[in-house]
Amino acid sequence: MTAIDIAPASGRLGVLTPGMGAVATTFYAGVLAARAGFAQPIGSLTQLGHIRLGKRTDDNNPLIRDFAPLASLDQLAFGGWDPYSDDAYAAAMRAGVLRPEHLEAVGEELRSITPMPAVFSPKWVSRLDDTDNTLDGASHLAAVESLVENIAEFRTREQCDRLVMVWCGSTEAYHELTDVHSSLEAFEKGLAANDPNIAPSQLYAYAALTSGVPFANGAPNFTVDVPAIVELAQRESVPIAGKDFKTGQTLMKTIIAPGLKTRMLGIKGWYSTNILGNRDGEVLDDPENFRSKEVSKLGVLEQILQPELYPDLYEDLYHMVRINYYPPRGDDKEGWDNIDIFGWLGYPMQIKIDFLCKDSILAAPLVLDLTLLMDLAARAGKKGVQEWLSFYFKSPQTAPGLYAENDIFIQLTKLKNTLRHWMGEDMITHLGSEYYDD
Ligand SMILES: NC(=O)c1ccc[n+]([C@@H]2O[C@H](COP(=O)([O-])OP(=O)(O)OC[C@H]3O[C@@H](n4cnc5c(N)ncnc54)[C@H](O)[C@@H]3O)[C@@H](O)[C@H]2O)c1
Repeated sequence: MTAIDIAPASGRLGVLTPGMGAVATTFYAGVLAARAGFAQPIGSLTQLGHIRLGKRTDDNNPLIRDFAPLASLDQLAFGGWDPYSDDAYAAAMRAGVLRPEHLEAVGEELRSITPMPAVFSPKWVSRLDDTDNTLDGASHLAAVESLVENIAEFRTREQCDRLVMVWCGSTEAYHELTDVHSSLEAFEKGLAANDPNIAPSQLYAYAALTSGVPFANGAPNFTVDVPAIVELAQRESVPIAGKDFKTGQTLMKTIIAPGLKTRMLGIKGWYSTNILGNRDGEVLDDPENFRSKEVSKLGVLEQILQPELYPDLYEDLYHMVRINYYPPRGDDKEGWDNIDIFGWLGYPMQIKIDFLCKDSILAAPLVLDLTLLMDLAARAGKKGVQEWLSFYFKSPQTAPGLYAENDIFIQLTKLKNTLRHWMGEDMITHLGSEYYDD
């Protein structure tokens, strides 16, 4: 196989995050600590993962970052927007994910990352009070113009050769898509008419794509998964991906459900409940914002289990997801799952999971990987939806009409085979018959 043309990862790569809260600041601090050499980027496939090339007997398993031409941590520059004017150090202290001694060690660099004024509307995120860094009352067009200027200024100031934007902002309230999202033409008319159905995150996406900047969406709101923005990504030849970082309880779900299904064990009920006390939990305490999350979380099991193919095992599955805001826990989430399964002759069994996780510790490496892989996709000339990155998302974006693959092991195979394919290596089918042929 021949490799496709991929431009080299030379120069600086800027990461822009709308949202400089717990996830974004944990990401910045972790990368800064890793490149200063006093932390390991644990949880990052691009930094720690290996990829097998050729036959098992070839013993050829390079690190992914040595195999594919990814930007290195040293090449990254950070910027972002937030409706609060705290710099990244103050925001990280407030988020309370990393201990002060870890933040202090990279304090100078964190303090230099100050938020640009956010395109923000309390209509879309109602639980944030006393914001002091927003483009108050700007029209949609003025907001886009300001974002485009911010992007250009950041690019010049930080001397970046390329940029990637990753939405790390609060989850926006759930709104059905309307006509304004149905085509780029309708969307652009809606921008001029200040259509109230256009969400702030969609304005960031519009500004990014028209500036040639790939966009990945870490939250469950509709952002790049709307026809108008997909069309824009095609027109501008820029990659997009989404949505909703796959961490915590959904990560566990997509690890366990495929396992139960491979053994043809039935599932009657899956009850998931969480407590968390960070700002994300506070925002999700609003039913409208939780609705966005619920839609994204519920679809996962349905797709993995395929009840239409396995009605005896999964047709009657009762799936419920709850998130409860409980301030004493901060970012230390606790997620309980009760899974009612059944086996041979229908005999019932139960599985209980109690996952004491740290949400942002799980999410930060995903921001890093998405940054590096979206940049790789752009340099490889890829545009539009990057389904091969579904590994990172609760609700992977696909071509219209195509069901998403949620099984994390299939997602990983897809990601690695994409890299092998782009780099001109044979894809691995796991057939393995060559080891037994005479
Ligand atoms: N941590 C995880 O494991 C995880 C998993 C999946 C998805 N997410 C999503 O990632 C996002 C970030 O999570 P977090 O824990 O950092 O939340 P957070 O509340 O700590 O940070 C979000 C930040 O976004 C800012 N913000 C809100 N609206 C904005 C706008 N229009 N423009 C710019 N900034 C805006 C807020 O002021 C806040 O500082 C949330 O949407 C969350 O649901 C997180």
